[in-house]
Amino acid sequence: MSQRLNLTRIPCPGLKTKPEPGAKLGFGSLFTDFMFALDYTEGKGWHDARIEPYAPLELDPSCMTLHYGQTIFEGMKAYRGEDDSVRLFRPRLNFERMNVSAKRMGIPTLDVDLALQALEALIRQEADWVPGEPGTSLYIRPFIFATEGHLGVRVAKTYRFLIILSPSGAYYESGLDPVSIYIEDEYVRAVRGGTGFAKTAANYAVSLLSQIVAKERGYEQVLWLDGVERRYIEEVGSMNVFFVIDGEPVTPVLNGSILPGITRRSVLELLEHQGRPAREMRLAVDELMELARAGRVTEVFGTGTAAVISPVGRLSYGEESISFTYNPADSLAYQLYDDLTGIQYGHKPDELGWVHCVTPGRKPQTEGSL
Ligand code: COI
Repeated sequence: MSQRLNLTRIPCPGLKTKPEPGAKLGFGSLFTDFMFALDYTEGKGWHDARIEPYAPLELDPSCMTLHYGQTIFEGMKAYRGEDDSVRLFRPRLNFERMNVSAKRMGIPTLDVDLALQALEALIRQEADWVPGEPGTSLYIRPFIFATEGHLGVRVAKTYRFLIILSPSGAYYESGLDPVSIYIEDEYVRAVRGGTGFAKTAANYAVSLLSQIVAKERGYEQVLWLDGVERRYIEEVGSMNVFFVIDGEPVTPVLNGSILPGITRRSVLELLEHQGRPAREMRLAVDELMELARAGRVTEVFGTGTAAVISPVGRLSYGEESISFTYNPADSLAYQLYDDLTGIQYGHKPDELGWVHCVTPGRKPQTEGSL
């Protein structure tokens, strides 16, 4: 049986001014008034659940996370529906994945129901921060990190689980405009047996140098190849990747070094539901470039919670760069973006039961919107 959350609410001396409706929100730099916090102590388990003011943390300089990187995170969103309801998208999957990451990093796991209760309580308290403009949402960042101060290399004995909230717009400044991607053939992000499937800071830290090089060369994102043969397509740093080859949607099969994205899974399930199943397969970069050269790759797009669906307009590998035309009217990426966001915001029916309402609607749904 799942535990019931015993929550303390710590008041805030003063509340922040919320952004004006219609203000450009960007991604991940504005935070709400409160956060959820829960501590873990070896021998005692998780304790002291609280909603407290969002504020800087006090850390011991020997805090083990700062030295050995024992930390994991998730990315999710709360959407304001057309009827004013506040809605989450498949939130259990995020907390289940967080536990998979926790196990890999030697971090204690969390009861999924307890984590969900915590998130719901925080979202209810901060519901006025969920923006309502098209394409905006309240980005949710749950994370766990070691708090113990100690310099020996071992798993920590104390941790903190925090959930912070950030009203956000599009992840990429270019919005739904196609991004350009540089295929990295020197550095690798992950190897099988490593941590590629876990959402842990190290996977992102190792990607940053390539991101600098990609930017210098005029590309926005990096596409990773497998770490052994440096031949098979894996993922983009903040998204999984799909291709339309000879009319069929294709994505790299999960192999232990690719992040099992929840948007990736939802796209696969949605395509299956719509009678247009995608293929998960090993995809070699040289074969992909050959198919692209022959005009058989008609679309490339990324999928991720933050980025949603992001069309790719240019792919570069070695000396070669291939462009793809993005035409929303006949694009699978656009159709998937429209279907997914339609379900998330509530103007398309939730046939697969993915939406988890946190606060009920207060306004009638506009006629014909469902
Ligand atoms: C997400 O899509 O939520 C992510 O976690 C990717 C990135 C912002 C790190």
